[in-house]
Amino acid sequence: MKKVAILTNGGDAPGLNAVIRAIVKTARTNGVECYGYIEGYKGLLENNYVKLDLATNASGLLHKGGTIIGTSNSTNVFNYKVVNEDGSVEFKDLSDKCVENIKNAGFDCVFALGGDGTQKSSRDFSLKGVNFIGVPKTIDNDVAHTDTTFGYNTAVSVATEAIDRLHTTAESHHRVMVLEVMGRYAGWIALESAIAGGADVALIPEIPYDINKVVEKINERRNRGKEFTIVVTSEGAIPKDGEMVVKKNLDDGSGLDNIRLGGIGEKVANDIEALTGMVTRNTVLGYVQRGGTPSAFDRILSTKYGTKAMELALEGIFNVLVTYKDGKMGYVSLEDVVGNNKVVGAASGNTKESNIRKIKMDDDLVRVARDLGMCLGD
Ligand code: F6P
Repeated sequence: MKKVAILTNGGDAPGLNAVIRAIVKTARTNGVECYGYIEGYKGLLENNYVKLDLATNASGLLHKGGTIIGTSNSTNVFNYKVVNEDGSVEFKDLSDKCVENIKNAGFDCVFALGGDGTQKSSRDFSLKGVNFIGVPKTIDNDVAHTDTTFGYNTAVSVATEAIDRLHTTAESHHRVMVLEVMGRYAGWIALESAIAGGADVALIPEIPYDINKVVEKINERRNRGKEFTIVVTSEGAIPKDGEMVVKKNLDDGSGLDNIRLGGIGEKVANDIEALTGMVTRNTVLGYVQRGGTPSAFDRILSTKYGTKAMELALEGIFNVLVTYKDGKMGYVSLEDVVGNNKVVGAASGNTKESNIRKIKMDDDLVRVARDLGMCLGD
């Protein structure tokens, strides 16, 4: 193990730089050189990489949000959109070019920091005989086989602070406050922040909701003299008799999930106002959930992930995802991570079909929410 490369791919998450730092430091301890591909798989395809060095670019990173090597969430090198000179569009498998780039640069291993879409491509590359090690990044906390992805804890903290702030204004104005949070097809951010912030209602994709149940909860609170209610809704929450609310479908045929979710908070707020007559406001929390400095928990988790990733490379254990399970660092094969989403190059993005980890109904969080009397919309 002499030379390794890191890439950060997909939506950014707090802790990416902390993982990079941990890999680079562990590499230095063991006499390994580290490089970083610029903008994820795009940099791999374009053979665009820089040396990561503790004397220059790779120090002072622990607390920094974003990623110093950039990221891209619109590159599927296995089904890459090419616009020809005459304007016609073709989709090409350019993965062999990437493999060639890795081999020519002499990288013994590539660390891919990303969510389920990124790990799908890592697994597809591993089938081409290159050494990949995945590190599970996403604020959504939905990567299979690991209990907590880095970035998630920070996102929950930001959402919790938002709920705290909505509480005081809701109480002062006797309003219903709806907060729409991220999470795509999993409700982790919504449910954990709802519990941490003492919300009254949490709507998550795993439980299609009945708006009448939400109204019942608001009325029950009113009868107890509580003239305000806090509703947290995940961007992927689904009405019982309806569809997920999609802001934009940017599907360009490359097999990436370019569906932009958003708008469910507005719908829930409008429905509540119409059915209760209470003044209801909606807040969309958006990208503040994934920008900025990582929490102390995420700094530690990211450091554990990064050091473990480099340790695995030194042990010659490749084509695995680093995991954090039951409080212990470990690993699982990338083949297990993709689950049944086996077709190479297909559905490479964070899709509804991909093997993501959703909240199960026997999860402690669901039990806790129900014990507290929180309405989950069912
Ligand atoms: O996967 C992370 C995430 O922030 C989701 O929670 C959200 O749906 C999505 O990315 C937004 O993606 P984009 O950066 O393309 O708007």
